[in-house]
Amino acid sequence: MRKPFIAGNWKMHKTRDEALYFVLKVSSEVPNMDKVETAICPPSPLLRDLIKRQGENLRIGAQNMHYEEEGAFTGEVSPLLLKSYNVTHVIIGHSERRNLFGETDEDVNRKIHMALKHGLKPIVCIGEHLEERENGKTNDVLERQVKKAFDGVKKEDLEDVVIAYEPIWAIGTGKTATADVAGEACGFIRSLIKDRYGSDVAEAIRIQYGGSVKPHNIDELLDEEDIDGALIGGASLDADKFITMAKAALNHL
Ligand code: 13P
Repeated sequence: MRKPFIAGNWKMHKTRDEALYFVLKVSSEVPNMDKVETAICPPSPLLRDLIKRQGENLRIGAQNMHYEEEGAFTGEVSPLLLKSYNVTHVIIGHSERRNLFGETDEDVNRKIHMALKHGLKPIVCIGEHLEERENGKTNDVLERQVKKAFDGVKKEDLEDVVIAYEPIWAIGTGKTATADVAGEACGFIRSLIKDRYGSDVAEAIRIQYGGSVKPHNIDELLDEEDIDGALIGGASLDADKFITMAKAALNHL
């Protein structure tokens, strides 16, 4: 049985006051961690303030980190710093990092190794462009991304990994993949993990769907057998919507 995992990716949104208001409201309302895992990934400067106020059940994750522990990397965030703040999760390889900031499959792989080395749980994002989907290349893209992302990652480390299937054409566009399409892609990703690591690992790993998830569509997405949660952008900025979506997961245990 895979525990649902509902996470918010705030991207470059919210001031300190707005973030504190959100966490004050949400931390006491999200479901018990024994049943549903919830996390918010704010911009890095907010991590410390929010972790102090995360409460019993909400967790705070980072949106990115560097693949080195320290060094001359202006503007980057060290995994050691995240660890020292008790950050639990880190998003790795989000399509905005890949497309706008030139992050490669190799960078993603190095970051995953570094996160696991320091006990940070990676939320590894993969997903195809619209053109790739229209040309029937979705599975090829997912296969390449999974293969490269997990190169050299050991079976036992997969326990701490979450995969987020985020088709790029569905991000911020209001075009959610239908539950069928999203479920099929997540099933394919699980089959890739099975081929590589065996059925125990494939059955245990959690796969989220991300891309225009909202309170009105989360139920049908979570109904899919291979979708174990959601990575939510825009709708996670609203405290009431986030609470509603976190609670929706209680119907899919
Ligand atoms: P939206 O929910 O705004 O489409 O964003 C999805 C996403 O990119 C989450 O990481």
